[in-house]
Amino acid sequence: MSDAKLTINGKDYEFPVVEGTEGEVGIDVARLRGETGAVSLDPGYGNTGSCQSAITYIDGENGVLRYRGYPIEDLAEKTTFEEIISLLVWGELPDEERLEELRTTLAEYAVIDEGIKDVLSGFPRTAHPMAMLSACMSALESYYDTSGSSDEDVLRVIAGMNTLAAYIYRYKQGLPYVYPSKDLNYAENFLHMMYGTPGEDPDVNEVIAEAIDKLLILHADHEQNCSASTTRMVGSAKATLYASVAAGVGALSGPLHGGANQRVLEMLQSIQDDGGDLEKYIDLAKDKSSEFRLMGFGHRVYKNFDPRAKILKTSADDVLADLGKDDPLLDIARDLEQVALEDEFFVKRRLYPNVDFYSGIIYRALEVPTEMFTVMFALGRISGWVAQWKEMLDDPAFRIHRPRQIYIGEGEREIPPISER
Ligand code: CMC
Repeated sequence: MSDAKLTINGKDYEFPVVEGTEGEVGIDVARLRGETGAVSLDPGYGNTGSCQSAITYIDGENGVLRYRGYPIEDLAEKTTFEEIISLLVWGELPDEERLEELRTTLAEYAVIDEGIKDVLSGFPRTAHPMAMLSACMSALESYYDTSGSSDEDVLRVIAGMNTLAAYIYRYKQGLPYVYPSKDLNYAENFLHMMYGTPGEDPDVNEVIAEAIDKLLILHADHEQNCSASTTRMVGSAKATLYASVAAGVGALSGPLHGGANQRVLEMLQSIQDDGGDLEKYIDLAKDKSSEFRLMGFGHRVYKNFDPRAKILKTSADDVLADLGKDDPLLDIARDLEQVALEDEFFVKRRLYPNVDFYSGIIYRALEVPTEMFTVMFALGRISGWVAQWKEMLDDPAFRIHRPRQIYIGEGEREIPPISER
């Protein structure tokens, strides 16, 4: 492909064009500032490729999502979360032996240092689980004598996330902690630590464990999203994996990102409490003078449909049927989707249900408290953060992430005496 030409102040410059596996085109402006003195300006990074990556491919126009080439629909149907960890972090699906090794190591490392209970005990029981998760992930590093960036850390961080998620729930509920079992996989151990009885053998509902496993797979990675970019950004300073992931948790907590799943449920609940008047909420979302947005709708990349939402919509039906539950909020969600998809405002802006729209209904059916929903997102996304962080450090083009800016503040000025300010 020929170079891209740029003219600044009448002078021409040429920049190489790079092409991805699926034909996506990028203009490599790494030399831009050095050659022209100018920088690119792209608030929100909507047009900026921050790296070349071989992990996840998204085609937002056609609703395609693949991890390392495998379609998400196939992965959700045929693999387990442990296989996804191997695929994302080390590049390939594991054979049987490696899979068993991964499962047992993750179960072994899920036994975290007892000191973390002291960290937890410092939080008020009203603390938000995501604030606790970020702080505990940072703290976890202190208990291990490793570099903070080895393969051992990779597995300790992923396993630690599982235990922290469950411990946070137990602490908030004022319940005694339940230790992980060496015989369980990641999703089963999570359920055992969340809902088990201390000292008793695990008694995990397999329907629920499989539903959780599928949710973990669907949330595992999503290329350069806000929290993955944050994890890479912090890691680029050679901060440890624990510190980088703790920052990723902070980014994920925001309502425009992973925090949306909690907000979706709260929104559906408000609609129900308010008598089920969908039009009122649709009008509010369209009203530019209001801050209200239809939570669980819209996506920076997907402009036709979010393939994860499609899978989850069916999954929500299946899980409710399996558990013999009937949730009026699912009916409201379906109706809201229908109304929004026919409304010109949403059609014109190509706003469709995203992954967070139906996941909350499933978590609710599984009796996960609403406040814990974003922690559930993190439980899956940890695999993607680790993979993105590792790929960045192994990249021959590695440099600390340090964007430029266009300064628009005051010119140089003198400090006036305090009496004149
Ligand atoms: N409800 C109402 N209007 C919306 C919504 C929404 N959910 N999303 C976007 N819009 C409007 C927005 O007001 C703007 O309108 P206009 O062009 O008239 O000013 C237009 O659509 C484009 O919106 P944007 O904010 O410029 O789009 P973005 O790509 O910067 O933001 C988004 C993407 C996901 C942050 C946004 O759609 C949103 O806030 N959605 C609700 C929160 C949500 O569900 N987040 C979860 C995202 S999926 C999980 C994840 O990856 O974390």
